[in-house]
Amino acid sequence: MRIAFLGKGGAGKTTTSAGFIKYLAKRHPFVLAVDADLNAHLKSALNLKGECKQLGLHFDSVVDYLRGERSDLGDRPMIGTTPPSLKSNFITADRNDEFVKQYAMYEDNIALLTVGTYQKEDVGGTCYHEKLKSLAGIFHHMLDTPDDLIVADTTAGTDNVATSLSFAYDINVMVLEPTEKSTQVFLDFAQIAPQFVDRTYVVGNKVDGDEDAEYIQGRVGKERYLGSIPFSRNLKRFEQGEDEAINDFLKEQEATFDNVYKVWKEHKRNWSAYQALLNKTFKWDCERWYNDYYKQDLYTGIDSDFTYEKALAARGLSDIKEKKAALV
Ligand SMILES: Nc1ncnc2c1ncn2[C@@H]1O[C@H](COP(=O)(O)OP(=O)(O)O)[C@@H](O)[C@H]1O
Ligand SMILES: [Mg+2]
Repeated sequence: MRIAFLGKGGAGKTTTSAGFIKYLAKRHPFVLAVDADLNAHLKSALNLKGECKQLGLHFDSVVDYLRGERSDLGDRPMIGTTPPSLKSNFITADRNDEFVKQYAMYEDNIALLTVGTYQKEDVGGTCYHEKLKSLAGIFHHMLDTPDDLIVADTTAGTDNVATSLSFAYDINVMVLEPTEKSTQVFLDFAQIAPQFVDRTYVVGNKVDGDEDAEYIQGRVGKERYLGSIPFSRNLKRFEQGEDEAINDFLKEQEATFDNVYKVWKEHKRNWSAYQALLNKTFKWDCERWYNDYYKQDLYTGIDSDFTYEKALAARGLSDIKEKKAALV
């Protein structure tokens, strides 16, 4: 299952996703963290010390890897929304997964994948959307189960809506400060992408008392509000170099994270609906832009046998849920 933290720049997406990743890592053996922001700060917010590879520097190899042994494409390129084939390589949210081992940095129960910042050659040439689209391609090749924990810190604003990342996450948590501008991000999102509102929740951040919480609820509605994280002196102490203070901040976030975890776990992914959206977006991408750009038809002849259920079953992943259900 995948969760993304969204919101305005500075609202606290990175702080809150890092907190939630730590909250999960305390309780579960493995969390896959994804830094999908061009200003990659998740590593430092998690206080991870090692070296991290930037996926953005390796997208050609990433795409080659995902392509696997598929022959339906011939020598046609893959784009971010090209649906997988049964012969594609897939990624599992497992610490021993080949892709994760190749690109993530590990510490304790956390593996962190980082999309990465702009490169010199990107300036004026490509835009960050291209990187986000490639990231979307990674998610569309991920065979995660309901027990897997994948947490993404995303780029500011509502950029995701412009890419197939909009449906790659099972739920979105919008981090909102008690200000007009910050809460406007949710209202804009609800207007641009009403179909995704029912998978989008709100957490109030830098909240100073009930009045602030009520202000946010007044703007976005109570029903999507999962809780408040206070404006924290402990976070400042941590950022001033007191490593231990982060534990006090985690306690301040805990009750809200209990609620986030609960609604996340209640969501069930519908793989067929996911695949239908992917196919639709792929067709749209091809017709609107990529067929012209590559001067060939990228759409026709894509492996029509493919379903996520078959790919999961082939790897013994689909019956995990059923086996567990049988035990209950
Ligand atoms: N609950 C909080 N209390 C106090 N300061 C906070 C809180 N959450 C975030 N901040 C501060 O706000 C700033 C922006 O947070 P950050 O997580 O980087 O935002 P974003 O990722 O949304 O751009 C940082 O300096 C961070 O320390
Ligand atoms: Mg950030």
